[in-house]
Amino acid sequence: MNLSLSHPHSHFLLLLFFFFFTILTHHSLTVTSTTCHVDDETGLLGFKSSITADPSGILSSWKPGSDCCTWSGITCLFGSRVTSLSLMGQSSKPNSFLSGPISPSLSKVKFLDGLYLQNLRNISGPFPDFLFGLPELKFIYIENNKLSGRIPGSIGNLTGLSALSLSGNQFSGPIPSSISQLTGLTQLNLGGNRLTGPIPNGIQKLKNLTLFSLDRNQLSGSIPDFFGSFSELRILRLSHNKFIGKIPASISALAPKLIYLELAQTGLNGQIPQFLGNFKTLDKLNLSRNNFSGVVPRSFANLTKIFNLDLSRNYLIDPFPNMSVKGIESLDLSYNKFHLGEIPKWATSSPIIYSLKLARCGIKLRLEDWKPSHTYFYDFIDLSENEISGSAIGLLNMTDYLVGFWASRNKLKFNLESLRIVERLKYLDLSRNEVFGKVPNGVSKLERLNVSYNHLCGKLPVTNFSASAFLGNDCLCGSPLAPCKSIA
Ligand SMILES: *[C@@H]1O[C@H](CO)[C@@H](O)[C@H](O)[C@H]1NC(C)=O
Ligand SMILES: *[C@@H]1O[C@H](CO)[C@@H](O)[C@H](O)[C@H]1NC(C)=O
Ligand SMILES: *[C@@H]1O[C@H](CO)[C@@H](O)[C@H](O)[C@H]1NC(C)=O
Ligand SMILES: *[C@@H]1O[C@H](CO)[C@@H](O)[C@H](O)[C@H]1NC(C)=O
Ligand SMILES: *[C@@H]1O[C@H](CO)[C@@H](O)[C@H](O)[C@H]1NC(C)=O
Ligand SMILES: *[C@@H]1O[C@H](CO)[C@@H](O)[C@H](O)[C@H]1NC(C)=O
Ligand SMILES: *[C@@H]1O[C@H](CO)[C@@H](O)[C@H](O)[C@H]1NC(C)=O
Ligand SMILES: *[C@@H]1O[C@H](CO)[C@@H](O)[C@H](O)[C@H]1NC(C)=O
Ligand SMILES: *[C@@H]1O[C@H](CO)[C@@H](O)[C@H](O)[C@H]1NC(C)=O
Ligand SMILES: *[C@@H]1O[C@H](CO)[C@@H](O)[C@H](O)[C@H]1NC(C)=O
Repeated sequence: MNLSLSHPHSHFLLLLFFFFFTILTHHSLTVTSTTCHVDDETGLLGFKSSITADPSGILSSWKPGSDCCTWSGITCLFGSRVTSLSLMGQSSKPNSFLSGPISPSLSKVKFLDGLYLQNLRNISGPFPDFLFGLPELKFIYIENNKLSGRIPGSIGNLTGLSALSLSGNQFSGPIPSSISQLTGLTQLNLGGNRLTGPIPNGIQKLKNLTLFSLDRNQLSGSIPDFFGSFSELRILRLSHNKFIGKIPASISALAPKLIYLELAQTGLNGQIPQFLGNFKTLDKLNLSRNNFSGVVPRSFANLTKIFNLDLSRNYLIDPFPNMSVKGIESLDLSYNKFHLGEIPKWATSSPIIYSLKLARCGIKLRLEDWKPSHTYFYDFIDLSENEISGSAIGLLNMTDYLVGFWASRNKLKFNLESLRIVERLKYLDLSRNEVFGKVPNGVSKLERLNVSYNHLCGKLPVTNFSASAFLGNDCLCGSPLAPCKSIA
């Protein structure tokens, strides 16, 4: 819809562009060429022949005898030698995938400097160690596939690499310590695998890293205190692992340049360090689902550029610092030990906020008295488990693009029939309030609904929701509850 162009998420795209700039420029340098080298053609056709399924025809232009420089996904440079192989599945299309292993015949493509096999979902087999024979190789992006087994220790031989991403595969075992030999790396992304063991200390030798991502693995031990050596780091993602201990002190050295810091669900504890307030360029901070306790440092007031702040599910206590951020995009402070009393003014006044989650934050207000200055971008509002009274009718009348509204366990009291079920709404939870009236037909298009434990009455509209979505009301009837007694 028209929304997408002006939506604030788009600044994230800018960031992506920043990181992929080298790759993009590289790709666009395609030179008009004569027919491709016979070794390249043989190598690529060998790759194709090991592919066992290509239902959407990703490789349909790869035909013997035609110029392989014109095949989709192929870039040629240097007098018609193939330099890049870039195949990308489209996540919106279910049959946009490739099955089968990566054929070693690709090692014939001697001038390959970039291998991009992204979102092809079903490329399988072990790490393609024939890549060690390709002297020009600088960029490896084998992402969102099904490669498995260990990352070989010999990966340290790929000393020419600038970027290595194996994210979203099924690699297991430890991160080989030889990875410390890849000192030319600017990006290292091993997120979303099944890696175990500690983060090798030698990674501190990769001083040129701008992106370092090991999130969504089963890594353990403490996070090494080695960040003093990463003077270029912009993105650090270690979320969703099994670390122990505290946030290492040397992370403070990243303050001048770090943009994303993601340490959620890592088993860390202790206080949130005061030095995080010095991260002047920090855009996203995710510390959710850890065991952090104590207060949020007052220095957070200095995080004036923070767009996404998630501190949910810790043991943090009052007082929350008075932030001076001009526009926050997403805020989640849910399930701590806060007693905020009100929805923070710096969130209420944000012109670009799309997600506000303040479940169990000790908020006491009449919902009509909350007057967000801008409601246009709101996708998600979670105010569950507070002491919020009054009506949600006005709020849902203002938030045209709302996708989820959660407000269970409050004291909301209004006639549900008057609630506007906006076009995009998918999730609505009003359970354990004092909502009355009938359940309107409009709810049938929702994906999830919970209006249990209110004062609703009357015949239910036809829906697929389970009985637990409607239990505990005054006199609701009809499927999935008991039939209505008479057709009054
Ligand atoms: C995915 O690849 C595996 C192994 O190559 C194969 O058995 C399976 O059928 C493939 N799945 C699809 C949907 O093609
Ligand atoms: C890696 O390099 C070492 C020493 O340079 C060499 O002995 C070994 O064969 C190489 N391994 C591979 C797989 O190329
Ligand atoms: C790291 O980056 C600097 C500046 O771009 C460059 O001069 C240096 O050679 C790089 N180091 C390695 C090991 O590639
Ligand atoms: C923070 O990390 C948690 C756990 O990995 C995740 O569920 C949540 O969506 C993240 N929050 C944001 C704002 O990205
Ligand atoms: C986090 O705190 C919970 C509850 O206090 C405790 O059960 C758990 O063991 C702690 N986890 C870590 C990693 O400290
Ligand atoms: C914010 O930063 C300024 C200067 O960088 C510093 O003087 C001030 O103490 C900081 N505020 C807090 C609350 O830490
Ligand atoms: C919070 O900061 C704003 C502006 O920076 C100021 O107007 C307000 O009085 C402050 N509130 C508190 C409770 O300190
Ligand atoms: C909903 O908003 C419209 C205008 O945007 C207004 O006319 C109407 O009175 C509002 N309804 C409720 C119930 O607030
Ligand atoms: C309920 O589910 C069935 C089967 O999944 C579907 O055909 C039907 O349209 C659904 N009904 C509603 C009201 O969503
Ligand atoms: C609805 O909410 C009640 C109480 O909050 C809960 O017990 C029940 O499991 C929920 N049902 C659904 C379908 O979410």
